[in-house]
Amino acid sequence: MERVDRIWKQEQYQKAYKKLVSLEEDRIFCRHTLEHFLDVARLAYIYNLEEQAGIDKELIYAAALLHDIGRVQEYEDGTSHDIASVVFAEKILPECGFSEMEIREITEAIEGHRNEKKSQKNITGGLLATYLKKADKKSRNCMVCSAEAECKWSMEKKNFDIEY
Ligand SMILES: [Fe+2]
Repeated sequence: MERVDRIWKQEQYQKAYKKLVSLEEDRIFCRHTLEHFLDVARLAYIYNLEEQAGIDKELIYAAALLHDIGRVQEYEDGTSHDIASVVFAEKILPECGFSEMEIREITEAIEGHRNEKKSQKNITGGLLATYLKKADKKSRNCMVCSAEAECKWSMEKKNFDIEY
């Protein structure tokens, strides 16, 4: 997982990550910390294993580490975080050793984590986007959240059951 570690240690990533943590310090709703990124990565990897999709582990972890990093820009100038995360990912992934095709795969998944847009043409047939989106939602433990009543997520979207 050398390339994923390169993302985590990349200078701009570290700067953005620290800023995001500090911007969300007083946030009562779900925060976007490394814990969330790794929850998403691990769940998506489990879906990948269960369905024997064969997606490269590094692509899954790269997408999970990057999918919410654009929230810094969203807080700053209102740019939608999925779009900002894509721009950020395109900037740093080449120096972390990812190929053009892999970067396209990762950024399409990031772009698709908030909507249904899926590409069938990419190397995982849109499955990385599907797993990332599902893991992003399922990673949240609404049943123990003290801000659940004020959260804008619909009752259908909130997680009240232990699912597997
Ligand atoms: Fe997320």
